[in-house]
Amino acid sequence: MTIQVQAHSRELPRLRGGLPWLGHALAFKHDPVGFLRHGQETAGDAFTFTLLGQQVVFMSGPSAHRAVFAAREEQLSCREAYQFMVPILGEGVLYGAGHSVMEQQMKMVQGPLTGKQLRASAPVMVAEAQAYLDALGEHGERDLIDMMAELTASIASRCLVGPEFRTRLTAELRGLYDDLQEGVQLAGLVNPRLPLPPFRRRDRARARIVASVHDIIGERRRPGAQTGPADMLTTLMSARYADGSALSDDIIAGLLLSMIFAGQHTSAAHGAWTGVLLLAHPVWYLRARAEQDQFRVQNPELTPANLHRMTVLDQCFKEAERMYPPLSVLMRVTMSDFVHDGYTVPKGALVFVSPGASHRRPDVFRDPDEYCPARFGPGREEDRRTPYGLIGFGGGQHGCTGLGFAQQQLKIIWSLLLRQFDLEAMQPPGPPDQSTFVVRPGKPCMIRYRRREATP
Ligand code: HEM
Repeated sequence: MTIQVQAHSRELPRLRGGLPWLGHALAFKHDPVGFLRHGQETAGDAFTFTLLGQQVVFMSGPSAHRAVFAAREEQLSCREAYQFMVPILGEGVLYGAGHSVMEQQMKMVQGPLTGKQLRASAPVMVAEAQAYLDALGEHGERDLIDMMAELTASIASRCLVGPEFRTRLTAELRGLYDDLQEGVQLAGLVNPRLPLPPFRRRDRARARIVASVHDIIGERRRPGAQTGPADMLTTLMSARYADGSALSDDIIAGLLLSMIFAGQHTSAAHGAWTGVLLLAHPVWYLRARAEQDQFRVQNPELTPANLHRMTVLDQCFKEAERMYPPLSVLMRVTMSDFVHDGYTVPKGALVFVSPGASHRRPDVFRDPDEYCPARFGPGREEDRRTPYGLIGFGGGQHGCTGLGFAQQQLKIIWSLLLRQFDLEAMQPPGPPDQSTFVVRPGKPCMIRYRRREATP
């Protein structure tokens, strides 16, 4: 798709209401997806509004998504839009670095998250998940969000930074990751370094994690140090920029922390939504479980190839991604006037694309408010029928680097859970928790579990 500058643009509809400077910040903060959905239904596929003194342009629909995801960094900048993340990522790391360095760093982290290295991490993920489930006992009650957060924190720490890190910070880890996530607030769009308590906790958590990674790098560099299987840390320690220079320990620590940050809460939320929706729809819960029982007999190993063949589980994950994408709003900043579909988004505006709002478009997904994993099955394949309709992992230039990692770990977790436990929700799902940029099921989200009799 080519993006052309047209001489005559139509005017973007502006949402009515809002307060001076704050604009629609209160409504947006309260329920970002609901707010954008309402705007989409009343003002159409593109509209503008003010948020904390900043002009925002919302763009919805497959053709707008394609245009945004295909745009080059010089046109629509991801880096500019996510400057509020720099206190977490670190100066000189990804969005905190220049464009060329950012691109080189993105390539460096790709290796361990894809292909052979990703496949090799499957047994480690299985071992981490199994150890967690073994400790659950015969039966009990747990919060599903906590379970998913603990499981994904252990897997991310173990697979990305390594076993030393995982053991060193065991008790603290989950709280530190939560402090990082809770440090991503709407106020960060104005100034992410304001002296607010969540920002202070974010900075303390970052310092603690980075110090620990530094220690591990130091230990690994000692002559005669034991080298285990390759993880992201080993990859980054031997990586080189185009000019041949190595990464400093600060940058390595920042990149590892960035990957954990990008992947842990998102994966935990996606795993929790998949479970909440499955348990609220017994027909699908039983189908997913029957599929696992069949695999358990015929192909019990949780290899990437077997995980790939689990079509029911796959459809359930996609439906959770569609209904409750963990990243519900994606952002870009226009570096020059950007024209799409006859309207101009002026230079300096913040562009919003919303998986959460756009996934409820009836022109893309039939009966969008209904839970129906079969929409992704044979005969319907609503995701393939409309490219750029399902965008829970983004797309194009900045599509999720960790997609394969996230899917592999979550399929492993849910395969084991369904094979080994009878599960039951203790209450119907409540309204989503949208207090940070990652949308999770609202608490309480308690489940009851009982170990099944014939476990593998
Ligand atoms: C269910 C879990 C996940 C979801 C829903 C998710 C979602 C997304 C989305 C929507 C984007 C695009 C952002 C944009 O266009 O503005 C993205 C980018 C990214 N994700 Fe994920 N993600 C997940 C897991 C992970 C994991 C596990 C990792 C790494 C270990 C990861 C690393 C990244 C990185 C590095 C980018 C930036 C790519 C770029 O700008 O080129 N993500 N993710």
